[in-house]
Amino acid sequence: RLLIIDFGSQVTQLIARRLRELNVYCEIHPYNRVDDAFLAAFAPKAVILSGGPDSVTREGSPRAPEALWNFGVPVLGICYGQQTMMQQLGGLVESGHGTAEFGRAFVTPENGDLSILDGWFAAGKEQVWMSHGDHVSKIAPGFTVYGTSPNAPFAVTADISRNFYAVQFHPEVHHTPKGAKLYENFIRLAGFKGDWTMKGYREQAIQAIRDQVGDSHVICGLSGGVDSSVTAILLHEAIGDQLTCVFVDHGLLRKNEAADVVKMFRDNYKIKLIAADESDLFLNALEGVSDPEVKRKTIGKLFIDVFQKYANEIEGAKFLAQGTLYPDVIESVSFSGGPSVTIKSHHNVGGLPEKMGLKLVEPLRELFKDEVRALGRELGLPASFIGRHPFPGPGLAIRCPGEITREKLAILQEADAVYIDQIRKHGLYDEIWQAFAAILPMKTVGVMGDGRTYDFAVSIRAVTSVDGMTADTYPFTHEFLGETMTRIINEVKGVNRVFYDLTSKPPGTIELE
Ligand code: XMP
Repeated sequence: RLLIIDFGSQVTQLIARRLRELNVYCEIHPYNRVDDAFLAAFAPKAVILSGGPDSVTREGSPRAPEALWNFGVPVLGICYGQQTMMQQLGGLVESGHGTAEFGRAFVTPENGDLSILDGWFAAGKEQVWMSHGDHVSKIAPGFTVYGTSPNAPFAVTADISRNFYAVQFHPEVHHTPKGAKLYENFIRLAGFKGDWTMKGYREQAIQAIRDQVGDSHVICGLSGGVDSSVTAILLHEAIGDQLTCVFVDHGLLRKNEAADVVKMFRDNYKIKLIAADESDLFLNALEGVSDPEVKRKTIGKLFIDVFQKYANEIEGAKFLAQGTLYPDVIESVSFSGGPSVTIKSHHNVGGLPEKMGLKLVEPLRELFKDEVRALGRELGLPASFIGRHPFPGPGLAIRCPGEITREKLAILQEADAVYIDQIRKHGLYDEIWQAFAAILPMKTVGVMGDGRTYDFAVSIRAVTSVDGMTADTYPFTHEFLGETMTRIINEVKGVNRVFYDLTSKPPGTIELE
């Protein structure tokens, strides 16, 4: 495996992505955790030093562990990583003097070929992306320059005899078009075969789970989402009946969702499952509540109580499994007020493990979202399940603006099911990031079959997005919208009007509340 020492660059995660794409297993660790002992224990086959926001010229700024220089494995320094490497090995780094470089630059070769630049200079020069204020003004003894750019005379340097390589630019970003090639060259010379696959990960993860939990019992909260589902199935493969899943139906799920989840896990996968229908509890607590934040808090608090109640019934449980992903656990290096480490936590059962004296099992904590999907495929999870649109924890509560009633929820479930069916039938589901119906807090007058109606209005929404932070409205054809309107009104009793939500995010949010 490969170790990435993080000096706090915004794009360190991209280095990991590039390497994973090359089927090399790597981990990111913050510089202030990587000391000589860590290095020995981790035993990396190669090390990459990331970029970072600090200045090597500042007293007390971050350094790579001294043991690295005699560790005997290939090292690649990037930007800040390059600068600290130069300085630690006897070169010089300076600030200012008008040699800062931000953005596009072109590197030209010097002093013959360098293995990590194989395939780079077909056009005599190659575009790279720079982002640095400081620059190396004297390279360390033993190093040779292999590439220069107008403002970085030492854009690429190397000490081939020691397998040390250093670049001033960022090969991991999109604007360094041949960056992936550089990583490929680097891992090849480090002796990686590029054989890290999901199949391999699956075996490795199963063994790690067995080692961690031994013969103890594990509880896993199932939401029906991809992360918790993959976690459960992986655990089940590892420890079989030592796993019990808890699925809480809060009465705010989509049509048939609870039954589908139960069927899949209990019948198809034979996983021990407590399916708790607590819809009365939640819906009673939500009676008369119309404020969106009060809805969220009510549901969140009850969820924890209910989950704990069921978890307590599972005798001898020592572990709680969670579908935490890699982006949530990468320890980010913060430079405000000296080195400190912040760890993001995102748990829908936050605080529970401590309260219940449970230890955590997080078998996805090394994976990115698309890798979790790949693992899901590897575990035989149906494609339709893996590609499902995101669904919020508070469920239909936030798609029912104003007061929630059982009548409104039932209408909403039907309308949403027809709408999603319509999207699937037209082959649009995978093009859309998220789509759903909402029931509006009003009734409108209509005329159907010569009679007057006074029924609910439904709105339909579909957006494209990458991460849910911003979103654009999906451009349905008028024909599709017309057909959908007709189907919803014909097939769902209690609806006589359909609105199409045209709002992007911003200014809107994806959900109505
Ligand atoms: P918004 O509405 O904030 O939604 O634009 C962005 C994404 O987050 C989901 N969402 C939630 N997920 N609990 C969740 O687990 C929530 O309270 C919540 N609110 C919004 C939403 O479905 C969308 O994918």
